[in-house]
Amino acid sequence: MFNFHYRLERNAIGLTVAIIIAGGIGGLVEIAPLFTIDETVEDAPDMRVYTPLEIAGRNIYIREGCYACHSQMIRTLRDEVERYGPYSLAVESKYDHPMLWGSKRTGPDIARIGGKYSNEWQVAHLYNPRDLVPESKMPAYRWLLRNSLKIDDLGEHLAALRKVGVPYTDEMIANATADAYGQANPDSGQAAGVTERYGDKTNVSLFDGRGETLTEMDAIVAYLQILGRLTDAAKQSAQAKVE
Ligand code: HEC
Repeated sequence: MFNFHYRLERNAIGLTVAIIIAGGIGGLVEIAPLFTIDETVEDAPDMRVYTPLEIAGRNIYIREGCYACHSQMIRTLRDEVERYGPYSLAVESKYDHPMLWGSKRTGPDIARIGGKYSNEWQVAHLYNPRDLVPESKMPAYRWLLRNSLKIDDLGEHLAALRKVGVPYTDEMIANATADAYGQANPDSGQAAGVTERYGDKTNVSLFDGRGETLTEMDAIVAYLQILGRLTDAAKQSAQAKVE
């Protein structure tokens, strides 16, 4: 066996062919499942796209590196399902570009964090995690409450996402800035447009507790509150298995 490898390494053509075969097997293992992707990804007719404010929050989540400590992917293992809820389905990440499944859990998985806590809890926790969880290792993100949110370019973010397959309409793109403002200001004239375009169940709220000015805190809390709630597909499939 070792003798064979010794001889192979001294034969340029033989070694090249062997490398191509080995690489080809690896490639096939990765590529073959993609041919069945249409059958692999579940249907979720109730699935909605992220609102502009949630997209802004998602961008901040990426900027701050939250994914380095938090995964957004509940595996099919029993302990995970009992702790976090129904395991993640492929369709739930359908509009995630890039996906944020993560590979490290210094903190817990947050794929289903939406609705687990109030907005006030999320704001206080991001402001100083140790005020709520004394033993927390999570950094404080105070500037999120100070920084005003840039919303004038959100239409371009939606347009870019549409290029990679997220079904944003022309109307959603044209109203992105107004919708971002409206979603964080329930009493404003712009609020109605948000539910009109993204559905009645869309969370329209004073996310950071203050109206008028939009902060980065508004955006990230709006994003956290939608995690795991774009569709009910996972809940329904878990329910179907129980019955
Ligand atoms: C250095 C690692 C680290 C980073 C970076 C980090 N977290 Fe955390 N996070 C934790 C830990 C540890 C906990 C558990 C203790 C706690 O609740 O504070 C946690 C808890 C949470 C929780 C509550 C989860 C639950 O189910 O109770 C949320 C929500 C959260 N983090 C959001 C974020 C967001 C948003 C960011 C980025 C702005 C972030 N985290 C960045 C480590 C981190």
